[in-house]
Amino acid sequence: MSKVLEIKEITKNYEDINVLDGVSLSVEYGEVVVIVGPSGCGKSTLLRCLNALEKIDDGEILLDGELINPGNNNLSRVRQKIGMVFQSYELFPHKTVLQNLTLAPLHVKKADKRETEKEALMLLERVGLLSKKDSYPRQLSGGQKQRVAIIRALMMHPEVLLLDEITAALDPEMVREVLDVVLSLAKEGRTMLIVTHELSFARAVADRMIFIDGGRIVEEAPPSDFFEKPKSDRLRKFLDSFSYEKE
Ligand SMILES: Nc1ncnc2c1ncn2[C@@H]1O[C@H](COP(=O)(O)OP(=O)(O)OP(=O)(O)O)[C@@H](O)[C@H]1O
Ligand SMILES: [Mg+2]
Repeated sequence: MSKVLEIKEITKNYEDINVLDGVSLSVEYGEVVVIVGPSGCGKSTLLRCLNALEKIDDGEILLDGELINPGNNNLSRVRQKIGMVFQSYELFPHKTVLQNLTLAPLHVKKADKRETEKEALMLLERVGLLSKKDSYPRQLSGGQKQRVAIIRALMMHPEVLLLDEITAALDPEMVREVLDVVLSLAKEGRTMLIVTHELSFARAVADRMIFIDGGRIVEEAPPSDFFEKPKSDRLRKFLDSFSYEKE
């Protein structure tokens, strides 16, 4: 298998705080890697560096063998190859669902209008939202908006999809419908890097689990070992913090 992403010893500082402290990670084509870790440990920062939304201070990131370097003029191509979905859906409020989906392919990629719309409708159908094609984002539930945000990222045919806590702002009953979409993407072999606090989902979707703490990768393992045989105290404590016991 070959690598779509190679992250080599990257560091990232915000003024005097060292947020990423030598993170190295490779992702193969078709692999699903799930990243967990305590709040503030650098998960979002890592994804933002991969998408070149943040500049790294040291190290290297290779996408498809090509160096992601904010100094080069390849930023827009990089962002086309890496799709990102955030906790807040960030759909355009004054555009319909269909317009939200076709905007970037038509304007950034200069794609064919009929083909693009056809693809958008197919994806809407797939996530059960075809009837919402002419609705505006404010007319959708959180879970519906998030499903639109996911397929909007797919419309650019990214090599890698980065998902940053995409269900964190949703009511519990909407979490499932969004995670089911992600599971189906995993089954069709999409390459994804996922940050989530939904541990049972993580276990179901991940090929590999990563635990970050204090800006470093502390542990990395297949999901069964990760959850059943954590090696470090820090991961054990982190996993324990998700369960409740009656005193
Ligand atoms: N733009 C910024 N300027 C200064 N500090 C920042 C900035 N963005 C993030 N940080 C700091 O970097 C650290 C890592 O933040 P990050 O958002 O990556 O954490 P996280 O692991 O995603 O946390 P959470 O689980 O709460 O989303 C935090 O201490 C945060 O305060
Ligand atoms: Mg975050």
